[in-house]
Amino acid sequence: MIKFANVRIENLPWQELVKRYDRLDTFFYSDPPYHGHPDYKHNLVLEDYIEMARILSSINGKFILSINDHPDMRKVFKGFQIQEVSLMYSLGKKATKANELIIRNF
Ligand SMILES: C[S@@+](CC[C@H](N)C(=O)[O-])C[C@H]1O[C@@H](n2cnc3c(N)ncnc32)[C@H](O)[C@@H]1O
Repeated sequence: MIKFANVRIENLPWQELVKRYDRLDTFFYSDPPYHGHPDYKHNLVLEDYIEMARILSSINGKFILSINDHPDMRKVFKGFQIQEVSLMYSLGKKATKANELIIRNF
């Protein structure tokens, strides 16, 4: 059995969520759709990531964002700490190697 205390589940555009919950002691983990992979019902375009970088550059809290390692993403988020990680995508029939970027403001 899993019990959650003081957990709130929201379904909001990310901009609204950040506006509503940003505090000095807030931590955001952001897992947006991969750039260039329109896999979801709601996907993002380059301008959305640019807006994300702009908004995240002025929040009071801390964030970590994970995204696929793409030159556009390195450029858009260059003002933050960027760490490259290698991992295996294991959801498909055959596991494939991939690089992701872990981006943070601390
Ligand atoms: C990589 S998935 C995240 C999956 C989630 N972290 C999980 O583990 O189940 C990206 C998610 O961002 C959502 N998304 C797309 N545009 C959005 C927006 N403008 N605001 C909030 N979420 C959005 C997509 O619908 C998708 O569910």
